[in-house]
Amino acid sequence: AERTLILVKPDGVARGLAGEILRRVEAKGYSLVAVELRTASAELLGAHYAEHEGKPFYPPLVEFMASGPVLAVVAEGQRVIEGFRALAGTTDPSSAAPGTIRGDLGRDWGLKVQQNLVHGSDSPESAAREIALWFPAL
Ligand code: GTP
Ligand code: MG
Repeated sequence: AERTLILVKPDGVARGLAGEILRRVEAKGYSLVAVELRTASAELLGAHYAEHEGKPFYPPLVEFMASGPVLAVVAEGQRVIEGFRALAGTTDPSSAAPGTIRGDLGRDWGLKVQQNLVHGSDSPESAAREIALWFPAL
C-alpha cells in the first residue's frame, strides 16, 4: 500500500493535539507504520524543505519547525498521500474547510501561516524522499 510522511508540527505538539490528529488518521482507516517524537535538526529541516529554500517564508519556517518537538509519522493506506492532504485541509488554517485538521483545530489566523499543525507529503516522490530523511531505517 502507499505510504506518506506526516509531521505534527511544534504548534500541534505544544497544544496537545498530537493524539487528536493521530486519531483522525487512524479513524480514516490508515495504519501507523512508524511514530517518533523528536526535535529536528536544522540540517534535517533544510533537507526536508529544500524546495522552499530562497523563499521569504523559508527562514521563519525552519526556525519554527526547530522550535520544539514534532511527531513524525509514517502512515500507510490506499491513496494515503492524497487522502491525508484532504484530511489536513488547505495550507492557511484561516481558509481551511471545516472537517479538516487545519479547519477544525487551526488558529492564530493570518499571523503565522507556518503554524498550521501538520505536514503531509504531496506526491509519491516526496513521500519516498521524506520517509528516507526522517526514518532512514525503514
Ligand atoms: P506542508 O504539508 O507543510 O508541506 O504544507 P503545504 O504543502 O500545504 O504547503 P507548502 O509545501 O507550500 O509550504 C510548506 C509550509 O511552509 C506550509 O505548511 C507552511 O507551514 C509554510 N508556508 C507556505 N506558504 C507560506 C507563506 O506564504 N507564508 C508563511 N509564513 N509560511 C508559509
Ligand atoms: Mg508541502
